[in-house]
Amino acid sequence: MMKTILIADDDNAIRRTLELHLSDEGYVVRTAADGHEAIAKAEQQEVNLMLLDLRLPGFDGFEVLKIIKEKRPDLPVIMITAYDDMATAIESIRLGAIDHLGKPVDLDHLDEVIEKVFEMSLLAREGVIFRDAYDTHFEQNIMVGRSRSMKEIYKTIGAVADTRATVLIQGESGTGKEMVARALHFNSQYRNRPFIAVACSSLAPNLLESELFGHEKGAFTGAYRTKPGKFELAEGGTLFLDEISETSLEIQVKLLRFLQEREFERVGGIETIKANVRIVAATNKNLSELVACGGFRKDLYYRLKVVSIDMPPLRERKDDILILVKFLLEKMYLETGKRVDIIPQKTMNQLLEYSWPGNVRELENTLRRAVILSHGTVLLPESLHLDGNRDGDRFALVIKPLHEVEREHIENILIYTNYEKKRAAEILGISRPTLDRRVKEYGLDDSPRS
Ligand SMILES: Nc1ncnc2c1ncn2[C@@H]1O[C@H](COP(=O)(O)OP(=O)(O)O)[C@@H](O)[C@H]1O
Ligand SMILES: [Mg+2]
Repeated sequence: MMKTILIADDDNAIRRTLELHLSDEGYVVRTAADGHEAIAKAEQQEVNLMLLDLRLPGFDGFEVLKIIKEKRPDLPVIMITAYDDMATAIESIRLGAIDHLGKPVDLDHLDEVIEKVFEMSLLAREGVIFRDAYDTHFEQNIMVGRSRSMKEIYKTIGAVADTRATVLIQGESGTGKEMVARALHFNSQYRNRPFIAVACSSLAPNLLESELFGHEKGAFTGAYRTKPGKFELAEGGTLFLDEISETSLEIQVKLLRFLQEREFERVGGIETIKANVRIVAATNKNLSELVACGGFRKDLYYRLKVVSIDMPPLRERKDDILILVKFLLEKMYLETGKRVDIIPQKTMNQLLEYSWPGNVRELENTLRRAVILSHGTVLLPESLHLDGNRDGDRFALVIKPLHEVEREHIENILIYTNYEKKRAAEILGISRPTLDRRVKEYGLDDSPRS
C-alpha cells in the first residue's frame, strides 16, 4: 500500500523540493502552507507521516504539533527547522515528534529517517500491545514471575513467613533477594513491626558492629552518648542482613551468639540485652565455598540456613521475562511519565537471547534507560543496547577495567537524574564532592541537558 506523507511548510521552494523528491521515492504527497491547513490535513486518516516546519504563519510549530498529537497521537511527526539547536530538538521530541531535522534538509538522511519511521510502525503493528496492563493497580512491593522456580519461592515464603525461623537467601546480584526478605516480613503477622535492612558490606567492621549492636557512651572516640543498634530498633520485627558474607569473623561470633542465645551486648557495654528479632540474611557469594576456605564460620552458616531460599538467575527462567518487562515498563511509566508499551517481536527476541548477568536489576536499568531515551511508545531493539552480551557470549561486554565500569555507571546515573548532581550522588551513595571529582576525572559532561 502506498504511504501518504503530509508536508507542512510555508516556504514554497522547500515544499516543492520535498514534494518532488518524495513522489519520486514512491510516496503520495500532500502539502500545507500554514498552521490551520496543516492541522486540518493531518486529521485525515490516510496521512501516514508528517513533516512539520517549526515556524508556520499564524501558528507556532510547537502549537501545531501539540494539537496534532492530541487529535492523532498515532501520527508520526518529523520536525523540520532552521533552528537546529539542542533546545528545539529536545522540545520537539518532548512534545511527541519522532525526530527532528535541520534545514537545509539532507534528502538522503530524510529518506533514511522516513524508512525507519515506517519500519517502526510496522514493528508496532506486529508487537505485543498491553495497554490494558496499565489499568491494574500498581504495587511497588509485588514480585512478578510465574515460572516454576518463582512459584516454589512464593510457596516457601508463604510457609515460613509467620514462623520466626532464620532464613538465608542466596542468589546472584539482582535476582530479588531483598524483595523476598520484604515479602517474608510483610506477609507475616509481624508486618506492623519494623523491617530494618543493613548492607553489611557498606561499613567498616568496627562501624558495622556498633551499627548492629549499638554502643555505650565512651565506648570509642566520638561515642558521646549511648546509641541503640539495629537489633534493638528491629524489636518484634525483622532484621535483614544483606551481603552477610562481608562480615568480619568478630561480628560473625556475635551474630552466632545472638542466634543461639537471642542476646548480645552493645559495643563497650556490660549489660546483656535480649531481643526478639527475626533474622533474614542474604548473600550473592557461595557461602558453603567460603566456609570451606575459612572465610565464613561454619557454625554460623548452619544457624543461618534453617530455611534456605535459592534465587534462580533470570537466564534460567526466561519465561518470566515478558511479564517482568510489562511490569517494569509500568513502573517506569509511573517514574518518568513516559509511556512505552509496545514491544515488537524483534525486541522481545533480543530480550530473550540476552544472558542478563545482572538479572532483574539489569533488566530494570536497561528498560529505564530505553524509556528515558525513547521518542515514542515502541520499545525499539536498538534502544536496549544489548548487542555484545548474548547467551554464550556473556563476558564480551564485561571484560573491561573497573574504572571504565565506574565511569559508565556514573554517566548513566547523571543522565537518569538529568544531571541533578545532588540526586545522582544520593543514588550512587557517594558524597557530592566525590561525585564532582569523578565527573572531572572522567571528563563527563556535567551540564544539564534541558
Ligand atoms: N520478581 C520480581 N518482580 C519485580 N521486580 C523484581 C523482581 N525481582 C527483582 N526485582 C527488582 O529488581 C531489583 C533488584 O532486586 P533486589 O531484591 O534488590 O535484588 P538483590 O537483593 O538480589 O540484588 C529491584 O529494583 C527489584 O524491585
Ligand atoms: Mg540486594
